[in-house]
Amino acid sequence: MKTILVTGGMGFIGSHICVSLLEQGHQVIIVDNLCNSNKEVLNRINQITGKAPIFYSVDLLNEEALSAVFKRHNMDAVIHLAALKAVGKSSQIPLSYYHNNVSGSLVLLKVMEKYEVFNLVFSSSATVYGAKNPIPYVEHFPLSATNPYGRTKVMIEDILQDIFHADSRWNISLLRYFNPIGAHPSGLIGEDPKGIPNNLMPFITQVAVGQRDRLSIFGGDYPTPDGTGVRDYIHVVDLALGHLKALEKLMASSVKSISAYNLGAGKGYSVLNVVSAFEKASGKEIKYSITSRREGDLAEFFADVTKANNELGWQVSRSLDEMCEDAWNWQRKNPEGYS
Ligand code: NAD
Ligand code: UD1
Repeated sequence: MKTILVTGGMGFIGSHICVSLLEQGHQVIIVDNLCNSNKEVLNRINQITGKAPIFYSVDLLNEEALSAVFKRHNMDAVIHLAALKAVGKSSQIPLSYYHNNVSGSLVLLKVMEKYEVFNLVFSSSATVYGAKNPIPYVEHFPLSATNPYGRTKVMIEDILQDIFHADSRWNISLLRYFNPIGAHPSGLIGEDPKGIPNNLMPFITQVAVGQRDRLSIFGGDYPTPDGTGVRDYIHVVDLALGHLKALEKLMASSVKSISAYNLGAGKGYSVLNVVSAFEKASGKEIKYSITSRREGDLAEFFADVTKANNELGWQVSRSLDEMCEDAWNWQRKNPEGYS
């Protein structure tokens, strides 16, 4: 049994990672300031696993409070998810994004160094491949970003490379997520966006429960088979299991390293593919209109997942149909999310 700190563990992806960690017998400590999550998540994690994580309502920017958590618990590793993630908002309030994501990571790294916790799994994103790389994306491609949110991820990856090269006690896994959707099959935890959803799946599920009138499909004239955008959707439970594999590898190897891994399914689906898979899973009609393209969107991207397959022994096992069934199960049982 290991003691794992999960920053942002109350959020969409973090809550699923906490469930997987608890199910594998680890002790889980969550640090989250609840800026985009709800305390009810703790009860739900408990209902699924019969176990409770230890929760601290702490902001990563608060070095003193974060240090106190490290002082109290002997951490074996940290999974660092805590971040702001809305791409559009990041262009409106870039300072808040840089401060929260980059400064928050710096505080965490400083405290980890002080308490000599050097195993780190970092939540990166496919957005670090920028707009110019060919598809599928491979880990060695050059990184760039097209918006402040994406730049925070590139900056943090750069910072992690620098600290690893300066001090070889660090042992770091950079996990680049593609498009996580779906929910735990229990329907007890899932994605609960505040306000109008920016991402496709939560918008679709809100149309299905009647909270939104219709989906706007951003662009029907892309050079893709049906003209709509193509993405690499991954079930959030498969994504969570990828973190366990990355953690196992970090802890098992005697040689310290820094490695990036794409976590995706390795294939693309269009917006219309997702809409029809969701209609099949839910039995609901999803009304939509094709509107203009969303600024900053790419026509198509998906992952090359060879490295994660070979080095982590990880691959997805849940289909697009299961992603839609589980997203629908969550939304149907929790039409208002956690509140
Ligand atoms: P989320 O908003 O549901 O979870 C993030 C959690 O971090 C929230 O609970 C929030 O309250 C917390 N948090 C934010 N800033 C904090 C701070 N300063 N101190 C303490 N807690 C703080 O988002 P998510 O979808 O679960 O994403 C988790 C991570 O994965 C993020 O780093 C995100 O950038 C990354 N990621 C997400 C996606 C996606 O599509 N969801 C894709 C690629 C990468
Ligand atoms: C978005 C972010 C990206 C981030 C990723 C995962 C943007 C520009 N990019 O990517 O940085 O890493 O989320 O969090 O926001 N779509 C619609 N209608 C909608 C919503 C989406 O047609 O209401 C389409 C999009 O145009 C896209 C696809 O659905 O083709 C998926 O969109 P989304 O879920 O927002 O993810 P990404 O755009 O891939």
